[in-house]
Parts: sequence; C-alpha cells; structure tokens
Amino acid sequence: MQHLSELAQPGVLSNPTQFAEYLTFTLNTPLTADQDKINDCLSHASVILKDINQKDPSACLSVTMGFSFNGWQQLFPNEPMPAQLHPFKAMSDGNRSFPSTVGDIFFMIKSQRMDFNFQVAKHIAKSLHTIAGLIEDVQGYQYLDNRDMIDFVDGTENPTGNERIESVLVAEDVELHQGGSYLVVQKYIDRQHDWDSQTTEYQEQVVGRRKMDNIELDDDEKPAWAHNAKSKVEIDGIEIKMLRQNRPFGNAMEHGTMFVGFAATPSVIETSLTQMMYADENGHYDRLLDFVEAKTGTLYFIPSQSFLDQFEA
Ligand code: HEM
Repeated sequence: MQHLSELAQPGVLSNPTQFAEYLTFTLNTPLTADQDKINDCLSHASVILKDINQKDPSACLSVTMGFSFNGWQQLFPNEPMPAQLHPFKAMSDGNRSFPSTVGDIFFMIKSQRMDFNFQVAKHIAKSLHTIAGLIEDVQGYQYLDNRDMIDFVDGTENPTGNERIESVLVAEDVELHQGGSYLVVQKYIDRQHDWDSQTTEYQEQVVGRRKMDNIELDDDEKPAWAHNAKSKVEIDGIEIKMLRQNRPFGNAMEHGTMFVGFAATPSVIETSLTQMMYADENGHYDRLLDFVEAKTGTLYFIPSQSFLDQFEA
C-alpha cells in the first residue's frame, strides 16, 4: 500500500485544508493543438505550483488534476483509457435530481491561503487557454469546526491511514494507472430557508448525527432515511469507504457544498448516490436531498503523479 501512496498526486490523500478552489475546464472545439502543445500546457501546472509554494511552504499548497472520459479521449488518444472511467450518469426520482454536467479537466487547489489558491487558479487558466476554457471556479473554505453550511460537521467517517490508501487509490489497472483515483464532483446549493425552519431534532434525524457534538445517533434512533444511513456503502456486510474532501462555499445570498469524493472505483460513489436518490420499497430516500440541490455532476480520473510528471520538459 505504501508503494501506491508514493505514486499518487499528494492532494488526493491529504486532508482538506482551510481553503480550496475548484476549477472546471472544457476543451476548445475543435482541439487544434498537437500533443506537444497539450503536454506543455498541462506541465505548466506543476511549474506554477513550485513557484507559488516557495513563497510560503507552510501554506501546504497542492494542485490535483483530473480528466473526464471526454477529456481523456481528446487529450490522450494514445494512452489507455482508465478501466472504469465513463461519463457521469445522471439520476432522478420524484423532484430530486443529480444532473450530469460538462467538464473535461478539473483542478482542486488546496492550501491554508486563499490568496495562493487564487494565484494558482489565475495562472492555470492562463496557461490552459490555448486548449481549454474555464467554465466554473468555486472558492471553498473551512466553516467553523469543519461544518457544512447546514451546520453539521462533515467528514467524520472518512477513512484514515492504510484504509484511506486502500479506499482511494487504484490498484487494479494497467501499471500506468496504479496510484490513480476516481473523483466525483457535485456542486450543491443549500435550501437554507427550508432547512432553518426544521427543528434541531428533525435536522439530526436527517443527518444521522447530533448537531452540537457530532455524536452519531444510536441505531434505534436513526431513521432509515438518514443521510449517513443512505450514503453508507456495504457489500456482504463489509463497509466500503470513500474519501470526501467536501468544502462549503458561497455567501449569505447563495451557498452550499462542493461534494468532492475520491474512491478506488467510481462504483462506490455511484452506489452511494443510487441509495440516496431512489426511494426504497418503503418510500425512503435520503431526506438530506429535500434541503440541498445538486447543480453539477462529473466523474474524473485523477492520474498518478508519475503520469503527470512525464509531461514535464
Ligand atoms: C450537500 C451535500 C452533502 C452534505 C451537506 C453532506 C453532509 C454530510 C454529513 C454532515 C455527514 C456526517 C458526518 C460524516 O461522517 O462526514 C455525511 C456523511 C456521509 N456522506 Fe455526505 N453530504 C453531502 C453529500 C454527499 C454525497 C453526494 C455523498 C455520496 C456520493 C455523501 C456520502 C457520505 C458518506 C459516505 C458519509 C458517511 C456515512 C457513514 O458511514 O456514517 N455525502 N455527509
């Protein structure tokens, strides 16, 4: 497992930082640049990272880069497609929906400094402009003690240590893709007014945890439709984890959560989403979805660091 963690892009395994900036690019059509030009543009991200990082290494700056199915097909036609990379599947049931939206290249910039993240974002957008345009830039930040803006602590059940490496990094694929990871990104907007009109007791049932101290509800108190019941993935009684590096974003007019979930196989996250979305035989879906609305949804492959290093001049 140690060997896999050495292959991974550092931001995949590290914890969320104080600030995170998420950039979504779509490729220019037609994509006229040749492979050398494409490689050159992509290698710029690591140059920018080094230049800005040396200003204050204690800011723990990292830049994580990923590609969707369409992005991979167009950018790396001569490299094998990661075995489980496919377009994100939209889902809907009742008045709930998980849309599938465009995005070819994705960047997650993390650090303790918002100004660093902005500088990196600005320079990445500039260096990619001959091959891709920036269509979304979301600036997330730590809110209180790692709470979402619905005021509950988020990330508690994330795997740690070796379990994190096993849950997140690809071990079974061609050698080139080992140490990679799959990432689902969804941007959610909170229906804050509806949420705030609920009692704390009901909110705690929706999340499956106590609001003030983040203690999990006992099994006999936790409804089948609680978020932490519906989102948990178990196969033959064994829990399969994902790593969520969610960050809230926004202001008093509009805000929400960037769901940023990494896993060794996208099926873990897709199973979680399926359980959340579709009502079971008792009519139970994830009640959190009554209070948050997914606006975007894309699946990316996050290649290993060694895959990216091959582009460096
Ligand atoms: C607005 C969107 C979301 C919010 C505000 C949110 C919030 C939370 C909170 C507060 C918890 C409890 C603490 C914790 O263990 O982290 C939690 C747990 C969890 N969430 Fe979410 N979540 C969101 C979307 C999602 C999505 C889309 C997925 C899956 C694709 C997901 C998967 C999970 C999982 C796996 C757990 C841990 C369950 C357990 O084992 O206890 N969440 N989430």
